[in-house]
Amino acid sequence: MPFGSCPFWRMLFFVSLAGFLSDLSETGAFASQSDCDSTTIDNVTQSLQKYSTCLPEMAKKDGRDSLNRLIWILKDSLNLLQPLQGKFCKHLPQCPQPIAPKNGGIVCITIGSTEYCKPMCNKGYDFSFLRRSRLYESCDSSTGFTWTTQLTGGQTLAVCEPSEKAVSGAESAYFPDNSSCLHTLAYSEPEQLDTFLGELAKQGIDTFNHNKEADCLICGY
Ligand SMILES: *[C@@H]1O[C@H](CO)[C@@H](O)[C@H](O)[C@H]1NC(C)=O
Ligand SMILES: *[C@@H]1O[C@H](CO)[C@@H](O)[C@H](O)[C@H]1NC(C)=O
Repeated sequence: MPFGSCPFWRMLFFVSLAGFLSDLSETGAFASQSDCDSTTIDNVTQSLQKYSTCLPEMAKKDGRDSLNRLIWILKDSLNLLQPLQGKFCKHLPQCPQPIAPKNGGIVCITIGSTEYCKPMCNKGYDFSFLRRSRLYESCDSSTGFTWTTQLTGGQTLAVCEPSEKAVSGAESAYFPDNSSCLHTLAYSEPEQLDTFLGELAKQGIDTFNHNKEADCLICGY
């Protein structure tokens, strides 16, 4: 079956286009520029979502080689796209870009000229340092425009390590069992932002100059 005849396969290939275009464009497996121009991420998402329920069934039917290739294309696409997720977030320009922990994320809020980021771990992970009374890290003129982090390097705000118990952080520093950082980013980011903003207010921080446009959850990868 030629790839071009099935929109699903075409969509999958669109996603991985950037990495391969240069040397493989003649094979016809990839979208042309006009294909790309007339397609959106939502189109690709719709296709994947539509087929997601029957993918295991299709894989059994179509065999190992097809499955191996699909998994590679998906994985490679993920590697291309995940670094872009955080690029939409606005940070204080004077501060180093904060880096979210792998297997978790950071919820970032800017108030006036201070940026606050709360590190969070996914279910099954815990912080490598005790930080129960240390809800967030911050960066502003009073910190010399560096992040207040326990880690050397200054940009990675926390580390999430595999752990059965989640005890090193505050209760709200863990994503719920049924919603990892990536799931939260896709479906319920505002709830985590509201929680963190409430926590900052509770700590006596005046949230009047909260810059809503800079609100952002960033997942590590
Ligand atoms: C993408 O989705 C839009 C809106 O749902 C639709 O109008 C358009 O035809 C789709 N494009 C492709 C290439 O499937
Ligand atoms: C996760 O579980 C909570 C509490 O059981 C529930 O309220 C929420 O709707 C669930 N969320 C998802 C995405 O399943």
